[in-house]
Amino acid sequence: MITGSSRGLGRQIAEAALEAGHRVVATARNTDRLRDLVQSHGDRVLSVSLDVADPAAAQRAVERAVAQFGRLDVVVNNAGQADLGAIEDTPPESFAAQVSTNFWGVVHVTRAALPVMRRQGAGHLIQVSSLGARMGTPGLAAYQSAKAAVNVFSMSLAKEVGPLGLKVTIVEPGDMRTDILKPASMSVLPRSEPYEEVIGAFADRVLGNSGNQPGDPRRAAAAIVRAAQMSEPPERLILGSDALAYAQAAARELADSDAKWHDLSTSADFPAGSR
Ligand SMILES: NC(=O)c1ccc[n+]([C@@H]2O[C@H](COP(=O)([O-])OP(=O)(O)OC[C@H]3O[C@@H](n4cnc5c(N)ncnc54)[C@H](OP(=O)(O)O)[C@@H]3O)[C@@H](O)[C@H]2O)c1
Repeated sequence: MITGSSRGLGRQIAEAALEAGHRVVATARNTDRLRDLVQSHGDRVLSVSLDVADPAAAQRAVERAVAQFGRLDVVVNNAGQADLGAIEDTPPESFAAQVSTNFWGVVHVTRAALPVMRRQGAGHLIQVSSLGARMGTPGLAAYQSAKAAVNVFSMSLAKEVGPLGLKVTIVEPGDMRTDILKPASMSVLPRSEPYEEVIGAFADRVLGNSGNQPGDPRRAAAAIVRAAQMSEPPERLILGSDALAYAQAAARELADSDAKWHDLSTSADFPAGSR
């Protein structure tokens, strides 16, 4: 079962899974966009309407999946959306919508799937996050903080459900050539004067990159399907060489900062031997 299968990475995952011979519950806000998938793959595809921000719809989607195929082996929480704007320029509605899709969507679908997977004693939750969750980029605070929440939620989840036989993989892609930077997916919020320079420069660079991203969503989807077929899948899967380089730099920066402030950090302890 894949969320956000209408286009982009989700669509590619659905196609790759079907090509590998699996049965797929393709979900989308608008199922008209799944019609061709159903036409070409017949009863190996179940198309289900799902806005991930709606917990009741997530529940219904899981019920339909189980009613049709008898079980639920893999859930890919793929649906996501970002707006671009400074924190001060982001209206609460935009902030809430991004958290709702990127974080609450994962929570709702995961919680709907868990009882089924638990009863099966098997299941794999694949959570599509973003390498940006490790970075903190100007202009993407709402999106990246929601993705960072997905990471920590999924780390806790893995520890809770690992002993029950379930697997969790956090996928952290770099820049992929999908619709994500296009107006169909991303709103660029009006910029106030103080943020013109920092956000404007970033927006020009990022949006100017649309169509030239190094990541191929088809190959990324193939990697995700391969991970789904592993008996010992990765707990974290970075996708793309750009993402790997950013991850390594972010890890080094964090380690360096922790080392630099070592003495101030440890000064917060009671003195050794005191009660
Ligand atoms: N592309 C990148 O560079 C990149 C990098 C890191 C992480 N990611 C993550 O990869 C995932 C896929 O993104 P993409 O690159 O394929 O972007 P995309 O081409 O913009 O596709 C986004 C998909 O999410 C769906 N979606 C958005 N809000 C939804 C909601 N509330 N309920 C259900 N579906 C919803 C969209 O459906 P509609 O057609 O209905 O709008 C669409 O199918 C996202 O989680 C994204 O954050 C992407």
